[in-house]
Amino acid sequence: MSVDRNAEIPQGLERRAAKRDRVAQIPKWWHSIDLGDGVLTPGHKTPAILEAELHDMDLPSLKGRSVLDIGAWDGFYSFITEQRGAARVVALDHFVWALDPVAAAAFQRHCEREGVVVPPLDSVVGVWDEEGLPGKAGFDLCHEVLASNVETVVADFNTMDLSTLGSFDVVLYLGVIYHEPNPMNALMRLRSITEGVAIIESEMTYFPGREHSPIAEFFPGAELAGDATNWWVPNAACLEGLCRASGFARVEMKKGPPRPFASLAPGSEAVHYRGIFHAFVE
Ligand SMILES: C[S@@+](CC[C@H](N)C(=O)[O-])C[C@H]1O[C@@H](n2cnc3c(N)ncnc32)[C@H](O)[C@@H]1O
Repeated sequence: MSVDRNAEIPQGLERRAAKRDRVAQIPKWWHSIDLGDGVLTPGHKTPAILEAELHDMDLPSLKGRSVLDIGAWDGFYSFITEQRGAARVVALDHFVWALDPVAAAAFQRHCEREGVVVPPLDSVVGVWDEEGLPGKAGFDLCHEVLASNVETVVADFNTMDLSTLGSFDVVLYLGVIYHEPNPMNALMRLRSITEGVAIIESEMTYFPGREHSPIAEFFPGAELAGDATNWWVPNAACLEGLCRASGFARVEMKKGPPRPFASLAPGSEAVHYRGIFHAFVE
């Protein structure tokens, strides 16, 4: 007995150290993903944030269903839906997967020092690498360690041929819509590949006193969070209207404006929050 136990301990420690080393070699993590053996990826989204998002998202039963995760990044939501029994999960992304996070950060600092506007990063040699996909290393590591069967598609959802993608019972569209220059076009495409429900999570705006008017804020540069790929931030009426105009039959708001917003004086400045919506095809 004691011999077996002694053999197990160093093996477990070695496995943990090896996982930790590999996690540490990835320069940027978006998601905190539990890789077992006490190893957690150090994501910008902490476990507490992800737990709260999952709670608010109110995912439907996934047993035997197909799931598409658009904008998967490190894959937290792809892996969790697989673990919750989805029969097939596809993780789709392109932008952050093709970006070299270290080179991108250095290039952005260089532009700041020089006082020049940061050009679209997908046009910068040495920062954008569609062949090597340096920003996909975190997803790939988790996929391997978790022995996952999640499939991957490297593509821009806005321009790809959707007939190659097929359709899915549940489509996750989390933190993506405000990156779309043409949100209605994106939602029409989303509707066309959704069989059951699309779950949309987004930065939202709230104009006190204008709750029932569909309004979106436009960010022409990097005004929102210093990110020049953030374009449109809708209010709840706007997002619901966009979904219905794009062919979804019914929309349920799962996470709306925080309660204290209701006491803001009508006409006062817009405030932001994160919202979650379920858009159903029937
Ligand atoms: C803010 S992150 C959200 C990541 C993850 N869905 C989450 O909620 O934690 C936005 C992600 O969407 C991806 N993305 C943005 N536009 C996209 C598009 N047109 N096609 C595919 N992926 C896109 C980005 O590369 C990035 O991984």
